[in-house]
This record gives sequence, structure tokens and C-alpha cells, in this order.
Amino acid sequence: MFTLFYVLLVSSSLGISDYNIIKTFQNSYQNVWKTFEAQTKAERDLFLNESFPPSFQWATSSESFKVEGGWLEGGKGETIWDRFGHDGLAFVNQTADRACDSYHKVDYDVYLLRGLHVNTYQFSISWARIFPSGHRGSQSENGPLYYDKLINALIESGVQPVVTLYHWDLPQTLQDYGGWTNASIAEAFKDYADFCFSRFGDRVKAWNTFSSPWVVSHAGYGTGEHPPGVKDYVVASYQATHNMLKSHAEAWHVYNDKYRKVQGGKVGIALNSDWAEPKDPSRPEDIEAADRYLQFMLGWFAHPIFVNGDYPPTLKTQIENKIKDCPLSEPARLPVFTAEESQRISGTADFLGLNHYTSRLINNSVGACTPGPQGVGDFQAHVDPSWSSTASDWIYSTPWGLRRLLNYISTEYLNVTKVPIYITGNGMPTEQSGETLNDIGRIEYMKSYINEALKAIFIDGVNVQRFTVQSLMDGFEGKQAYSQRFGLHHVNFEDADRPRSPKQSAYFYSQLIKRNGFGSHEEHTFKGSVMQHIRLPTALTPSEVPTSMRLG
Ligand SMILES: *[C@@H]1O[C@H](CO)[C@@H](O)[C@H](O)[C@H]1NC(C)=O
Ligand SMILES: *[C@@H]1O[C@H](CO)[C@@H](O)[C@H](O)[C@H]1NC(C)=O
Ligand SMILES: *[C@@H]1O[C@H](CO)[C@@H](O)[C@H](O)[C@H]1NC(C)=O
Ligand SMILES: *[C@@H]1O[C@H](CO)[C@@H](O)[C@H](O)[C@H]1NC(C)=O
Ligand SMILES: *[C@@H]1O[C@H](CO)[C@@H](O)[C@H](O)[C@H]1NC(C)=O
Repeated sequence: MFTLFYVLLVSSSLGISDYNIIKTFQNSYQNVWKTFEAQTKAERDLFLNESFPPSFQWATSSESFKVEGGWLEGGKGETIWDRFGHDGLAFVNQTADRACDSYHKVDYDVYLLRGLHVNTYQFSISWARIFPSGHRGSQSENGPLYYDKLINALIESGVQPVVTLYHWDLPQTLQDYGGWTNASIAEAFKDYADFCFSRFGDRVKAWNTFSSPWVVSHAGYGTGEHPPGVKDYVVASYQATHNMLKSHAEAWHVYNDKYRKVQGGKVGIALNSDWAEPKDPSRPEDIEAADRYLQFMLGWFAHPIFVNGDYPPTLKTQIENKIKDCPLSEPARLPVFTAEESQRISGTADFLGLNHYTSRLINNSVGACTPGPQGVGDFQAHVDPSWSSTASDWIYSTPWGLRRLLNYISTEYLNVTKVPIYITGNGMPTEQSGETLNDIGRIEYMKSYINEALKAIFIDGVNVQRFTVQSLMDGFEGKQAYSQRFGLHHVNFEDADRPRSPKQSAYFYSQLIKRNGFGSHEEHTFKGSVMQHIRLPTALTPSEVPTSMRLG
């Protein structure tokens, strides 16, 4: 069954066994970089007409504050994103108050999922809907009922729920005590995680403790673009990461100690990372700078959890040197883990979740005493003018970066702890108007990114078990509010009913799922995860997406 095409691709990059020889004298970044360096553009972009493994998980996602609305309903507490909207800090003063109104539309959302034929749905729980003040003493009666209803509807439809405990919407009360910079938050997060495992864990078997925690530390506490709007890349940003890592570990241990035996699920973390490519491949200092870029973004979180309970040596060295070189202006203060804390954090993930959207070209540069990753890390990030842009000023389509990043993750983090990789977020936004329903740009992006994930599995042997398209529907996209559209479904925010309409990308995705990839042979499609079409206790039929498929 292996075609000539497959053989050619394998010999043009290195086989798995060759990897191990190289690894003994190069680090993971150099190893992966060298593997792909020689590829021509044509080889790099060759399309792989093959299928995914039979039990592959196809998912789409949403996040609580982006879709739920009902911001004060059922006793929910205010969150930092509610406050952000009310303070008029989002695009044209828009708020998350009603969003997609998913709080009242469980059946409608599940109907869309059934139409897509996804076998997995990732959503996040709003901490303030469970514990309005963030602490267990404030437990809400009604909040958990919403998630019960959603989870039950998913299971009745044969869709596996994947739950994120924290996707950015901290209860405002906890923020008033310093949010992620206050070490006592780890205890509150542990209680919250414990409650969620005990309440939903009989039905939920896959948990992300955090999703894109780098964005929280970077934009929430470093640049201050996101709530809580703290602009302190010297102290607060590193503290936030430190406390999120400890919180993550506590949640994993609660599951491991109290629930794993009975519930048999998995707890991991969804980390976001770009891929980094040296700006000038002929300069070794640019290759090293690209390596540092990844260490400052992904390694900051992944190294403690997946390697040894401590920050990457590169990050520590850079910061130590900067402190020596900058006696008059402290550029960074990295908290230190005790030996006990390191031991508690190391190995606390049953999978590595990856949120990935784009790549950067990196060159070495003198960061001097400027705080923040570029200054402290001595690198600069650039984009190539030939890369396709999107409605987001940071997302450029560079699908080949995903394959390289997956190879890097596999060698850097998963060579000892052999846990699987789940791609927990990939997608792109379009403008508010323009490619509203006929979103060919999104289809092109999805097709090429999914194909690169397939190459990482099929050719490179990387253990990727899930692909999640961000998002099920348009929503409140943070600072950009409703002006950036990530959805497979369009949402009309002018209409109080918030009607959802499938975009062309929804038809494309459902067809891809039915074929289980891009294989031409009929026989190996969609074996392991046949959908059960159990009727929901509602009049709604499945969404018309699969039956009125319009794409060949
Ligand atoms: C893959 O399939 C597409 C159409 O589905 C076709 O145009 C293309 O030539 C195929 N590529 C290879 C390398 O077979
Ligand atoms: C946002 O709110 C502020 C304060 O109420 C007001 O001055 C401003 O005009 C509003 N902007 C838009 C675009 O509505
Ligand atoms: C940290 O949070 C606790 C409550 O959990 C509070 O008592 C304490 O004052 C907070 N510390 C700071 C510095 O805000
Ligand atoms: C890094 O690249 C930018 C953009 O090309 C350039 O302006 C800058 O001088 C480069 N830095 C170094 C140290 O070469
Ligand atoms: C796994 O990768 C780490 C980080 O690069 C490296 O230190 C370690 O030697 C590797 N272990 C094996 C068994 O290859």
C-alpha cells in the first residue's frame, strides 16, 4: 500500500532510526532543523494523499467567555473578561455579555456538532460559573447544571467531551487578590479542579488544565493587552507562569490520587507555540536564536512539566547573564522552584496539547537590558512578506511549521515520557465581512495544516492522536471582540437569537472527517470512530451540513 510517492518522501527527509544517531551530538532544535533544511519548497509543500489512523480524533472547540453569554445568570460571578468588556476595552465597546448565547443553546450547538461529524468537542468551563468568587465556599447550584446538560447532550450524540478548566476567564474576585501572581491561587485552582473532576469526571475522560497559559503570562501580565492589563514583564509575568505551573501540577495530582483509578481519564495541558525558523540559515547564531525563541515560549511551560520540573537551562542562563550585565535595571526575575516543587511538577501530564497557528523567522540580536522575551532572549521575530496573512495581525499561514514543531516536540519533550500529542487548537480568523460564508481562505489554511499533521504522523512517526479546529462558531475574540471570525459557523450577532450558519469550511471539514483524511481509497475511511446517531430529546435533526455537502 505504500506508494512510490511515500518512498520518495521518506528518503528526502530522514527516517526515524537516523534521528537517534544524530540526537547524540545535536540538540533537538538543531536535529529537527537539519532534518528539514535540505527540503526544496516543492518537496516541503507536496500534498500527501493518505488517511489518518483509524481511531483518530476529529474535534472542534469553543471557550466559555467567547460563546456562553449569560454573564450573570445562574449566579455566575464576574470574570476578568466581563470586566474588560464593561470597561470599554474591547473593539467598539463590545462585551461578552450575550456572546453566542450558548448558555441557552446547548441543543443548537450539539446539533451543529452532529452535522460536522466530529467525534470530539473541546470546550472550557467558566470557573466563576462553578465557584462565583473563585473559592469552593461560593459554590453555585445552577452553574454546574449547564455543563451537565452540555456533556450529556454530547455523549448522547456520540461526541467525546474534552474539557479545559482554565481558558483565561479568571473570577474577578481572585483577580482582586492579585490573580495568578498570588501563590495562594494554586489552592483555589486545586479545589476548583477537584470539584470538576468529581462532578463531571464520570462522563469527561480528557481534561486540559490550562489552554495557552503563555498568552495569559505574556498578554495578561507582560504587555498588558489582555486583562488583567498588568504591564510587568520583569516580575509579574514570570510569577504568573510559576503559579500556573504549580496549579496545573496540583490539579493533575488531585486527579491522579483521587479519580484516575475510578474514572480512567487523562489530564494534560494545552500549550501554545509558534514554530521558529532561523532568519538566515547560514548563520549559526540565528539557528541558536530560533532555538531560544522556542525555549522562551514553549519551553517556559513544557520543560518543567515534561522534562525535569524546572525551567529550560537556556532560559535560566539568559536571565542570569542579563542580571549580571544590567546592574542598574533588573530585566527579569525568574522565581525558583524548591526541589519538592520540581518533583511535584515533573511528569504531570498524560498528553501534550498543542495550540498552534503560525511561525516566525528569528534572528539573533542584542536585547540589551530590555525586559520581555525578545530583549532577555536576545532575538527578534519577523515574518516573511510572502506568507499569507489573515484577519489577525499575528497569524500568517505557514503550514510546514506545524510538521517541524511536532517533530521538535516529539524529540525535545516526549522522548522519555511517551505521551501522545493532541493538537488542541488550529485555525484562522477572517474579517467581519468579506469571506463570510464562502471562506475559501480558511479551507486552504485548514487543508494544508491538517495535511502537515498527517505528514508528521504518516512519514515521521510522530504520535499525534487528535486535531482540533478552532472554532465551532464565531465568538467574542478577546480584544478584537466580534470583529474577528474564527468559526466554522457564522454567527449573526445582530440578531437576538444568534442564528448560526455553516460556512463552506464546515462542509469541507465534515467531508474530510468522513474520509478520515485525504486518502483516495474508499475502504480505509472512518473506521474507529463511527458516529452513533442517537436522537436527542429535542425536535432538532442533525445539522444539514453533511447531507447538503457542496464541495467535491
Ligand atoms: C492528490 O490528490 C489530488 C486530488 O485529490 C490530486 O490533484 C493530486 O495530484 C494528488 N497528489 C499526488 C501526489 O498524488
Ligand atoms: C465607547 O464608550 C465610550 C465611553 O462611553 C465612548 O466615549 C465611545 O464613543 C464608545 N466607542 C464606541 C465605538 O462606541
Ligand atoms: C493572596 O490571596 C489571599 C486570599 O487567597 C489573600 O488573603 C492575600 O491577601 C493575597 N495576597 C496579596 C498580596 O494580595
Ligand atoms: C534582524 O533582522 C532585521 C530585519 O531584517 C534587521 O533589521 C536586523 O538588523 C537584524 N538583526 C541583526 C543583529 O542582524
Ligand atoms: C530527551 O531529550 C532531552 C532534551 O533534549 C535530552 O536532554 C535527553 O538526553 C533526551 N533523552 C533521550 C533518551 O534521548
